[in-house]
Amino acid sequence: MKEAEFIWKDGKLIPWKDATTHILSHTLHYGNAAFEGTRAYATKKGLAIFRLSDHVKRLLNSTKIVAIKCPYSQSELEAAHIELLKANVYDGNVYIRPIVFLGYGTMGVTHTHAPVNVAIAAWEWGAYLGEDGILNGIKVKTSSFARNSVKSTMGKAKIAANYLNSQMAKHEALECGCEEALLLDESGFVAEGSGECFFIVRDGTLITPPYDNSLESITQATVIEIAKDLNIPVVQRRISRDEVYIADEAFFTGTAAEITPIRELDFRVIGTGKAGALTQRLQKEFFSIVMGENPKYTHYLTYID
Ligand SMILES: Cc1ncc(COP(=O)(O)O)c(C=O)c1O
Repeated sequence: MKEAEFIWKDGKLIPWKDATTHILSHTLHYGNAAFEGTRAYATKKGLAIFRLSDHVKRLLNSTKIVAIKCPYSQSELEAAHIELLKANVYDGNVYIRPIVFLGYGTMGVTHTHAPVNVAIAAWEWGAYLGEDGILNGIKVKTSSFARNSVKSTMGKAKIAANYLNSQMAKHEALECGCEEALLLDESGFVAEGSGECFFIVRDGTLITPPYDNSLESITQATVIEIAKDLNIPVVQRRISRDEVYIADEAFFTGTAAEITPIRELDFRVIGTGKAGALTQRLQKEFFSIVMGENPKYTHYLTYID
């Protein structure tokens, strides 16, 4: 990770190395913290945050779901992102990680008396699943872990504790020589990746699972919007594992993963075993949008001057 000069913490810009927390911080023990993953792209007109207001809105929704009172409003948090990116110097694309967490002051499972801390860090970060993954696709394994059940966890919240399930699935996939995990829901239908949403292409139609067992993904929504622009039919419905094996194309979407083609699932080659034609078309549009080259989508960009 390439460190930046400042991190925004509880209303102030502080040096990166000073952005620490006490060993008895509540979140460290019990896992309740809401966070986001947001990207800013180095466009021709300077750094621009993609869909800032949507990410901040989801962050605040996450805090509401897990009963954390965030001391900052939507507009204050948006301003904090901008302040941080202005204060630091970056030479490339940036990943932004705001987190609302429970700090030091009380122990025990009950969280409502713990102090709430808010921090935003941002650093230069390239393709999450690798440049080669974006170009040529990745190998994926269906996880032996089912996605967190909606009966016991709340997947609409981007919450630290939900990511143990993701972390174990990803670890298993890597140990098996793959690059990412595909998690099924408790009924055996595709839920999502460890940190991505999922699409297949069959006979020219784009198919993606409903939001039942996944985060409401901002990139997934962007891809659906692009597909509609390009007159590509989109269906949101359940997908079984064997349907993925016989799909023409498959790919992951996410702020970190952007649009990453899947070339193999469970050692079955998907389609041609390369980035599919439709996937590449969507990638081209997506990258032109985030880089500020499509005027229809400039409202999604917050430029940092
Ligand atoms: C579990 C999970 N699903 C899906 C996504 C994709 O969401 P988004 O496109 O909003 O980044 C992410 C990434 O934030 C994630 O962590």
